[in-house]
Parts: sequence; C-alpha cells; structure tokens
Amino acid sequence: MARKPFIAGNWKMNMTAESGKELIAQLKPLVKDTRYNVALCVPAILIPAMVKAAKGSKIKIGAQNVHWAEKGAYTGEISCEQLKEYGVKYAIIGHSERRQYFGETDEGVNKRTLAAIANGITPIVCVGETLEERENGQTEKVLDKQLKDGLNGIEDITKVVIAYEPVWAIGTGKTATPEQAQETIAYIRKKIGKLFDKRSANKVIIQYGGSMNAKNCFDLMEQPDIDGGLIGGASLTTEFAKVVNYLQD
Ligand code: 13P
Repeated sequence: MARKPFIAGNWKMNMTAESGKELIAQLKPLVKDTRYNVALCVPAILIPAMVKAAKGSKIKIGAQNVHWAEKGAYTGEISCEQLKEYGVKYAIIGHSERRQYFGETDEGVNKRTLAAIANGITPIVCVGETLEERENGQTEKVLDKQLKDGLNGIEDITKVVIAYEPVWAIGTGKTATPEQAQETIAYIRKKIGKLFDKRSANKVIIQYGGSMNAKNCFDLMEQPDIDGGLIGGASLTTEFAKVVNYLQD
C-alpha cells in the first residue's frame, strides 16, 4: 500500500492562544479537502486551546516533546498521560534544536520515543546532520547513530514517523535540493530496513524538514522516498495550507 503523505507544522516557540486560534480558523476551510494526514505541533501551553480550535477539522494537534516517565519530579517536562488527556496524537522527539540547545541525547530520544508508542502517541523522530558533518562526509555515520540509538528496542517501526531535517537547512532558507533530500531519505529508509526489516521500512513515513515552503514543496514531495514535510516558518501563516494542498493546487 502506498504511504499516505503526512504534513506537520512545527510552531516552535511561536504564536499565542489568540493568534493560534485565528490561524487555525483560517486554515480549517483551506485544508478541508486534503487526502493527507495533517498536524500542527504547538507549544505545550497552547495545546488545550488549539485542540479546541481544530476540532472537527483535518488538523490534528501535536506536541513538540514528551517525557518518558509516567509522572514525577521532572520540572518543565510533560507526560504522555497529560498529552493524551487532550487527545494529542503526535509528538516531535529529538528536534535538532532540543539536541543543540537543551542537551538531548539519542538515549533520551529513545526513551521518549518508546514511551510515546506505548501510549498510542505517534512520535515524529527528528534526525539530521550539521553542515560541518555533511562537509566532512559524515552524514551517513551521524544518521546511523541517531537511528540505531534513537530507535533501539522498538517493536513495530511503522508506528514511528521519521523527520529528516538537515540542521543546515533549518530556518536558513537553504533547502536541501530535492535530489539531496531524496538521496539521504532513501539512505535512511535503507538503514531502517537493516535495523528492522525491509517490509516495515517501506511503510515508514519519512518527512523532509528544513526551509520547506509553498514554493519548493512540490519538487521535494515528488521524490519517491519523501512522504511529507515538517514545516517550521511556513506553518505560522496560511502558507501552510498551500503546502498541504500541493498536489491539488
Ligand atoms: P523551517 O521550516 O523554519 O526551516 O524549520 C524546519 C524545522 O525545524 C521543522 O521542525
């Protein structure tokens, strides 16, 4: 069966309850005919209001992280149970900004990912190399480690969404070329096939992320191994709907 494209927005630390509600109200009619899976991963404090705002639409609300413990002394963290209470369906895990600025490791990514799956939340696990790593020819080595350690012990890999986000393309306006993104994502799929099994690897949704917008999304998503996008800046306006509707436009 063909993989169903999945377009997710990552609001990062942007928007307020008021501006978020307004944007979702504008997006709802624009994406109502989509055949794809659509989500917006919003700041934790906005989750209740955005779930309410998106009700009855194609837009599912996701979180930007989730902790592995059921509950306890983990100041600043959020549990699966807390997300589930609001019907949150997705959680981004291991975003490069979490790795870069907040010291998140592959081991932590693994624990968060396993907890999300156990709780019926689809993890969107982010992987990707820095510019220096790419220029030094280390892209495959970096991805190998992120995938091997981050996805360790997962029983059903098809429950995971992978987002390939080259760090050098995030927020820089420097998108990977469709060929670069395809080549690397095909590599990721092959590696998942080796770590798990080929059949499952062919079912895993792999998104591209990094300066993806209404202009470049078509060429990216046309690539055979790219199943959607994780969209930062372009998810903060109605441009997001253009990305969602890229094939119908
Ligand atoms: P931009 O689309 O703003 O480059 O961000 C990509 C990203 O990090 C999504 O998670």
